[in-house]
Amino acid sequence: MEVIIQPDAKAAADLTARLVAKELQDKPRLVLGLATGRTMETVYRRLVEMHRTENLDFSGVATFNLDEYVGLAAENEDSYRYYMKRHFFKHVNLRTVNVHLPDGMAEDLDAECVHYEQAIHDAGGIDLQLLGIGADGHIGFNEPLSALQSRTRVKALTPATIEQNAWHFSVPEKMPRRALTMGVGTILECRRCILLALGETKAGIIAAAVEGPITSMISASALQLHPHCTIIVDEAAASRLRGAEYYRWIFENEPEWQPYRKLMKR
Ligand code: F6R
Repeated sequence: MEVIIQPDAKAAADLTARLVAKELQDKPRLVLGLATGRTMETVYRRLVEMHRTENLDFSGVATFNLDEYVGLAAENEDSYRYYMKRHFFKHVNLRTVNVHLPDGMAEDLDAECVHYEQAIHDAGGIDLQLLGIGADGHIGFNEPLSALQSRTRVKALTPATIEQNAWHFSVPEKMPRRALTMGVGTILECRRCILLALGETKAGIIAAAVEGPITSMISASALQLHPHCTIIVDEAAASRLRGAEYYRWIFENEPEWQPYRKLMKR
């Protein structure tokens, strides 16, 4: 795991988008895992900008979203498919056939989960997975006690998640109580993952996930097992990290980060 601390939310989102762009330039047929939520909006905004101003090309990319609410159709404005369309899909040159989200309207939800796992496998596996982190430490919708080897499945949402997300529903009381989500095991199989966390409200859970023990009570802590996981935080989200000075030193001194140091200082 590596932790990169950026001065503010904009710089953190910018670095995340730059890393996506680099992977895409290295592999035009990238299989990209996507997340939703308020944090990710900043990254999509930047990627769309890079598509427009730097010709960042998504024509060969396949995407797989982490999750979708049960019972919401694609055209429902509260669905994650709709979120993705609004913030990202309709602004870039992704091919519709290459875009994947679990179908929350599927008649047989368990079969849909098996099908989703198969589709990821058939695409060659996820090269780069973008992640946010929930107030309860979830990644995707892997709520506390999700098995660390879990696969895509239906998951009941916790009261903490419902409280975190209900605000953006047109009728908050109508927020679904269940979602389809990639499992922790599914996520751990990606080749690289980047988790972005912004703001002071994420400081405690980031410290627990990064520096605490690996526990199914905090799904994000399982990322400590991943061989290539980058955690990007702003100063506020980094404020409870005990090793912050060391993480800063790495970013300032390791040759791998040199091109990004320059970029960030522009
Ligand atoms: C949603 C997802 C969630 C969010 C997390 C953070 O697709 O994967 O794990 O990333 O709930 O949400 P925000 O960014 O709204 O705090």
